[in-house]
Amino acid sequence: MYRLAVLVSGNGSNLQAILDACAADELAAEVAVVVSNLPDAYAIERAVAADVPTVVVERLPGEDRAAYDARLVQAVAPFSPDLVVLAGWMRILTPVFVGTFDVINLHPALPGELPGTHAIERAWQEALAGQRFGSGVMVHRVVDAGVDDGPVLASEAVAIRLDDTFDTFAQRIHHTERRLLVGVVGELATAAQGAPT
Ligand code: GRF
Repeated sequence: MYRLAVLVSGNGSNLQAILDACAADELAAEVAVVVSNLPDAYAIERAVAADVPTVVVERLPGEDRAAYDARLVQAVAPFSPDLVVLAGWMRILTPVFVGTFDVINLHPALPGELPGTHAIERAWQEALAGQRFGSGVMVHRVVDAGVDDGPVLASEAVAIRLDDTFDTFAQRIHHTERRLLVGVVGELATAAQGAPT
């Protein structure tokens, strides 16, 4: 079975989408471990409820990115993931980590747009100012320390409708995120399992 390590920092709704798709046999993969950098991330409860092992790797005082990433590698490696999925993971990763594993990231905006946190809120503010008419979602490979940047695996535009509120727009973004993420993981799993060994 194609093994996933899912890295989280918060609510974990995208993790839940992956767990649900695995449980429903819609995804030919299993979540081998869920790793959080924050001990109180709700995503950990979701993993526990699904009987998935969890690991918390908190940053130590004064620890630099490379040293943190080396400990993260040590935490993830024993689970031998075929793919590491950043699903609401809120730390920049260096080549120490992304050079070790195949890593993908989910970003609630289109390629090249709105990198960093609060992308949905920023898209909404720009729309209110008449500067944009939509946003979108992308899933990309993470190959360096660039923020929300890397070879795009899938992207989909999400329009802002005249009758949207921030909440209805954000809901459509989140719905699109879950569908795109599960779809990409499924494609990578199928490609890997179909590949000759
Ligand atoms: C998602 O919008 C993700 O794209 C962004 O943070 C949010 C995480 O949501 N990076 P969740 O923790 O999966 O519910």
